Formats: sequence, C-alpha cells, structure tokens
Amino acid sequence: MAHEINNPINGIINYAQILADQFADDTVNQEIVREIIDEGERVANIVKNLLDFAKARPEFKNPVSIEDILAASLALTKSQLSRDGIKLLVDMTPDLPPVLAHLQQIQQVVLNLISNARYALNQKYPAADQEKTFHIESEVCSSPEGQFVRLSFFDRGVGIAPEILSKVMDPFYSTKPSGAGTGLGLSISHGIIKDHGGEIRILSEQGKYTRVVVDLPAAAHDQQLDQPEGRGGSR
Ligand SMILES: Nc1ncnc2c1ncn2[C@@H]1O[C@H](COP(=O)(O)OP(=O)(O)OP(=O)(O)O)[C@@H](O)[C@H]1O
Ligand SMILES: [Mg+2]
Repeated sequence: MAHEINNPINGIINYAQILADQFADDTVNQEIVREIIDEGERVANIVKNLLDFAKARPEFKNPVSIEDILAASLALTKSQLSRDGIKLLVDMTPDLPPVLAHLQQIQQVVLNLISNARYALNQKYPAADQEKTFHIESEVCSSPEGQFVRLSFFDRGVGIAPEILSKVMDPFYSTKPSGAGTGLGLSISHGIIKDHGGEIRILSEQGKYTRVVVDLPAAAHDQQLDQPEGRGGSR
C-alpha cells in the first residue's frame, strides 16, 4: 500500500526536480516547480506517518548515538530549512552517552519535531528574518534512576495557545488547514519516547516560542553502536 502511493509520488518529485534544474534562470517557473516538490514531499510524509501509526512497534533496541541520529536527520532537512531562511543553531554536548533505542523511531521523532518547528517558523515569518531561528541542543543529565540524554528543540515560531497545549499530543489533533497535516506527528513521537522509557514535554508561549524537550535514558557506554540512515555511506 505504501509503495503504491510512494512510488508515483517519488516519480512526481523526481520529474519536478528535473524541471527545477532546467528552470534555473526562470524564477517564476522555479517557484511553481518547488511548490510541486514541497507538496509531493508532504503527501509522502503523511503516508509515512499513517503507516507508522498503524504498524506495531518492533521490540529491538540497540545502543545508538543521539549525535549520529541528529546529524542524519539534519542531513535530510538542512537544505529545506535554509531554503526557508531558517537559521539553524546546533549545540551538541560532546561525548554524549549512547541511548538504548530503536534508531529509525528516534530519527522519526527528530524529523517530526524539525518539521513542526519549520512549519511554525514559516507561519510566523513567511520570508527570511533575523528572528527566524531554530535551536537544537543536547546535554547529559543525571537523576536518581541514572543518566539520561536531553534533547531540546527550540523555535521562535508562532507558539501554542495555552488552551490547546494539553491537546497537541492527541492523535489527529492538528491546527493545520484541513488536508495539510495528519495530526499524528506528536502523538506518534510521544508513543515512541514513552516506549523507550523516556519523556517528551512541550513548553510554549503563544506568538513567541515553542520548546520541545525529549529525555531518553542512557545506555551503557561500551556496547556496539547502530548507525542511522541519511548520512550516506553505510547503507
Ligand atoms: N513547534 C511548534 N510550534 C507551534 N505549534 C506546534 C509546534 N509543534 C506542534 N504544534 C501544534 O501541535 C499540533 C499537532 O502537531 P502534530 O505534529 O501532532 O501534527 P501536525 O504537525 O498538525 O500534523 P503532521 O505532523 O501530520 O504534519 C500542530 O497542528 C500545531 O498546532
Ligand atoms: Mg507535525
């Protein structure tokens, strides 16, 4: 079912990319073709979210590097962010302990959070702006239960109204125009993080900022690391 939708969508995106290359000197047509690519990517993303939601989650978890997952996720999204004029700041604590995790699922959480931040920033600032910033940070924290890795995603986008803050993680809750989002991004992310023994929290001030904090328990340091997708090479 996924392939039946995604193969033709990828075809559309690839053909549009060929046109985009040909329209290098024609900004009006460039823009139209870019829209085709963006909308196509959105359809592909919605299909993926629906499938992930329906799919049972596998049990296997391995020690993975959060740094690698972030780098891979950014490799996939960096050009999109810079095309939107979003200033990305990444502040990683060196030598983070690995996390016992299902790599693709954590990557999916990161991609969902990046996508939400991007959307909120584009809503607030349709064009580039000094304040159009997205800050990703990581740090190691300690609690009586042991060490955990904290990731923080901070955007200065539209923010979330206080009366809906408690609903945004509900399945199918979305403030996007109808057809634009499934409203599953955060609920899937919440499910995944809980399944990893972690926590996901959202702090926000409407019109000002949104900060999503993800805590994941650290694994023992000496185990073999799994490698993420998106950096090329290893697959
Ligand atoms: N960074 C953010 N800034 C402002 N609002 C946000 C942010 N992240 C999430 N939200 C709010 O939470 C709602 C639910 O988010 P969620 O990711 O679950 O679904 P969605 O983004 O609407 O749809 P989809 O993820 O399928 O594209 C959003 O519609 C938006 O109102
Ligand atoms: Mg989303």
